Amino acid sequence: MVNHLNNVLLILTFTCLFLAVNAQKLPIFDILHPSHFDGAVSHNILNLPTKNHKAVENGGQDGVNNQNQEDDDDEEEGGQNKLKMRVKKGDVLVISNGAWELINEDSGVSAMHINLLPTNKILVIDAKVYRVSRLKLPEGAKCIPFRDELTNENKEDCWAHAMEYDIITNQVRPLRIGEGDPWCSSGGLSPDGTLVSTGGFFDGAKSIRHFSGPGCTNAGNCEFKEYNNLLKEERWYGTQQLLGNGEFIVVGGRRAFSYEFVPREEGKASEKPYFFPFLYETSDLDENNLYPFVHLHPEGNLFIFSNNRSLLLNPTTNKILRTYPVLPGGSRNYPASGMSVLLPIDLNAAAANASKPIRAEVLMCGGNTPDAFDFAEKKKVFLPALRDCNRMVITDQKPFWDKEEMPTGRVMGDALLLPNGQVLMINGAQEGTAAWWDADKPNYAPVLYTPWMLKGLRFRQLESSNIARMYHSTSAVLPSGKIWVAGSNTHNTYKAVDRFPTETRVEAFSPPYLDSFYQRYRPKIDEDNNLKEFTYGQVIKVQFFLEDHPLTLPHLDDFKVSIYYPPFTTHGTAMGQRMVLLRKHSIRERESGLYRIRLSTPPSSSIAPPGYYMLSVVYRGIPSAAMWVRIKPQQ
Ligand SMILES: *[C@@H]1O[C@H](CO)[C@@H](O)[C@H](O)[C@H]1NC(C)=O
Ligand SMILES: *[C@@H]1O[C@H](CO)[C@@H](O)[C@H](O)[C@H]1NC(C)=O
Repeated sequence: MVNHLNNVLLILTFTCLFLAVNAQKLPIFDILHPSHFDGAVSHNILNLPTKNHKAVENGGQDGVNNQNQEDDDDEEEGGQNKLKMRVKKGDVLVISNGAWELINEDSGVSAMHINLLPTNKILVIDAKVYRVSRLKLPEGAKCIPFRDELTNENKEDCWAHAMEYDIITNQVRPLRIGEGDPWCSSGGLSPDGTLVSTGGFFDGAKSIRHFSGPGCTNAGNCEFKEYNNLLKEERWYGTQQLLGNGEFIVVGGRRAFSYEFVPREEGKASEKPYFFPFLYETSDLDENNLYPFVHLHPEGNLFIFSNNRSLLLNPTTNKILRTYPVLPGGSRNYPASGMSVLLPIDLNAAAANASKPIRAEVLMCGGNTPDAFDFAEKKKVFLPALRDCNRMVITDQKPFWDKEEMPTGRVMGDALLLPNGQVLMINGAQEGTAAWWDADKPNYAPVLYTPWMLKGLRFRQLESSNIARMYHSTSAVLPSGKIWVAGSNTHNTYKAVDRFPTETRVEAFSPPYLDSFYQRYRPKIDEDNNLKEFTYGQVIKVQFFLEDHPLTLPHLDDFKVSIYYPPFTTHGTAMGQRMVLLRKHSIRERESGLYRIRLSTPPSSSIAPPGYYMLSVVYRGIPSAAMWVRIKPQQ
């Protein structure tokens, strides 16, 4: 019976695929996908003797009989399961182009800086400088007095310039920022879940702000705690990054050719700035060195990219360990604003050969020419954004930039790591640069990049939005696997009517893997029965459900378990974004449809700094919804 059903399902699947493929006129490479081996696998199973069919069908009972094996996952599936084959199937053919939905028609505050918090709220921070938004401060909150320089009058600002956005209910809660202006600031999630925001503009250029964490119950009543003048230098357009020791570093900013460390203790001043001539050397007439890209190298050093050059800095000794080849083709940092990600760090690859160092690779895409900002600012001539995407293995002895082309040029876009290890490039423009009124031709279509595909087959353009997300737009990966997309304000105030109005609408983009067609491949994490806090070098088990449990044993190669540090995103820079693919040991079907995978947690805090991560189980390229886990600091 089950076998018959399976046959029918398979036929249906192939028919649907065939129809879908024809309907969408897919490129050939998508059709030649290993998912088609499904048929061959089932055929093998169908040829087994009847008795074994029964064993397969009664998988549930089999699991129950083997309860005594519960803590002995090194053993293969017992009993009649031994007759099943372990077959690798490869990634599922995913042909959807994704889907957009409008989830909030007016969130009130344009999302210039955002960070998803472990409380499933997105903290949104705009700039105070506008003195306006579309969301009033809560009843009873003190308005902020200010001097209107134009009219020379004392006024009060009663608008919210920050808010908490609930990703489950899509409701917002206005927040008050009463001190220094966070305009073009930096930030990150600290190991205890507190959002630490640094720098900004004018009175906020040396500020440190704390939100959430211990002492605040997360029951929807957290407020900012603000401290002005704690940083040693002004950090306007600086980049913040969490180090393995749980401390933040802030690098650069306008006319700030230095970095400094953020004291872990709230309200304490930073000790001193460290002069960093590299930022001065890479600053050109249009700057193009702001919001430098900073990635934590697996050995604890910092890969820092500014304009078209990069190096490796040891943040403990303050020594420059090496420099990397110049990346030709243009400028990548603000205002030429390209995108950069550290590709997922795969701990399985490293495990294969213990004496091999852990591999880390950086992707650097888009941007514009060094003089593009000058053209946009002075002549309102918007040069086409760069189309190239470049990869470099930063852990290699002889690294080089390997160039590819995106389907479209992109400036001010976000590059986000998806739970299955793909990269999504979203938002931004096809012409011009960052800054007010300096870009044109919104890039409405996200692009999916699959790093492990063959070169030339890695990019796929997805469904377009119809909302322009240009300067001051943001996006974030949600635990559901959807992308939260918001912001865009290309003016010096809030403008409702304009070619590119100030956006307070929020959209959600569902990447191709969320198409309901692939539902049967989507693992579902058994949250109640999983460990949610662990430390380094620990062996853990993650339990999950999977509807699609074909008549074979699961193959470890068909699974990935990723952990993702939610970044602080602003101006196309996703500070602290990081994905690690955990080392897998074994997988076992405990009972019908209930699986358990044995893994090692990361070996050190320089590979994965302590803090909150989104853990996803990926089956054949289709990710589960994520579960929040916490890596506790090393003792
Ligand atoms: C790197 O950027 C600088 C500053 O914009 C520029 O002068 C130089 O020509 C660039 N180098 C290359 C190889 O593109
Ligand atoms: C392991 O890696 C080391 C260093 O890269 C290399 O010399 C050695 O040949 C590798 N061993 C195997 C078995 O691949």
